[in-house]
Amino acid sequence: MSNIDYNEIENLPKLAKSDFESAVTADDLAKLKTKYFGDNSVLVMSSKAIGGLSVEEKPKAGKVLGAARAAINELFDAATEAVKINEEALQYATEFEDMTTPVEFLKQKYNVTPIDFDGAVHPINGIINEIQTFFRNVGWTIGDGPEVEATEFNFDKLNFGKDHPARQMQDTFYIEKSSGTNPTDQKIPDQKIDENQTDVNEKLVMRTHTSPVQARALKTHGVPLYIAVPGKVYRTDELDATHTPVFHQCEGLAIDKDLTMADLKGVLELFAKAMFGEDAKTRLRPSYFPFTEPSAELDVWYPNKKGGAGWIEWGGCGMVNENVLTNCGVDPKEYRGFAFGVGIERTLILRHNINDMHDIVEGDVRFSNQLGLGVL
Ligand code: PHE
Repeated sequence: MSNIDYNEIENLPKLAKSDFESAVTADDLAKLKTKYFGDNSVLVMSSKAIGGLSVEEKPKAGKVLGAARAAINELFDAATEAVKINEEALQYATEFEDMTTPVEFLKQKYNVTPIDFDGAVHPINGIINEIQTFFRNVGWTIGDGPEVEATEFNFDKLNFGKDHPARQMQDTFYIEKSSGTNPTDQKIPDQKIDENQTDVNEKLVMRTHTSPVQARALKTHGVPLYIAVPGKVYRTDELDATHTPVFHQCEGLAIDKDLTMADLKGVLELFAKAMFGEDAKTRLRPSYFPFTEPSAELDVWYPNKKGGAGWIEWGGCGMVNENVLTNCGVDPKEYRGFAFGVGIERTLILRHNINDMHDIVEGDVRFSNQLGLGVL
């Protein structure tokens, strides 16, 4: 008497196919493994039953069972692969972190300053981000340049006379090139300076302003050029409530065929509004810089100024001096333009009524948090 249900065995792969194809998780797969290959499965029970079959029937049963097992094994392997892919996709989806998501500033989220925050953006970096966004929005390029700079770029190409007072040791950090023999000497890394752009025997300084990037950008990019360069600058000041020897400026340079001082005024007006709000406006007062002619001091009218609305000095500007253009290989008969430089600490201090430069320099996250720069 045969214990083998040939019909059931022959139908098994069909049944298994729909079962295995609907398996999604490793758990589904484990259950199906028990169902089809476990002790009570049709395959295992039938194999056991073969022992009790007649000699004539055994080969037939073995063949039918073998075929079913092979088919189901194949389905199982395919399902294992599919489940693996599926679980990986699931893992990637749940573990995925979008590294490009902008940080969420607490102030924007709650309009309050909560105690709990994970960290904070430094106020200088926060405002540099704003400055970069503004200039990108008006179609300008953002650039940078070395902080250890050749006097050629910091002064000479910018039309500073050989005896200009700004070159004096009192204002400028000069850098001594090390012979390299004393191991405690800090060797100035030569790669900081583009050797093609400078005479290696030149004296090096910590750049005293971002204006040397005017000359570098003109050499690198040529004309027409619209570029903004926020960056660190150095002067031999003591750190106190209103000074710091390391501070930041943002340089602007636009060179094209028909630029006038009206274009300069227009950009500055927009820039001031972006930094200080819609009611801010700008004014230019005649001044002197070796690298611009005419030159002007830039004042901003800031309605929320501590002690009442008023004009505050914000930076310097002017039409780029023809000598600078010539020094940088630009024909001043064909191209001309304007430049400006504003102090970034100054912008922060004015905008947020900050009383002490130490607060900006120290980088305490609680201070950033007060400015709404805490990050969740
Ligand atoms: N470099 C000048 C300074 O540091 C500012 C400035 C930049 C003036 C560009 C004119 C044009 O004071």
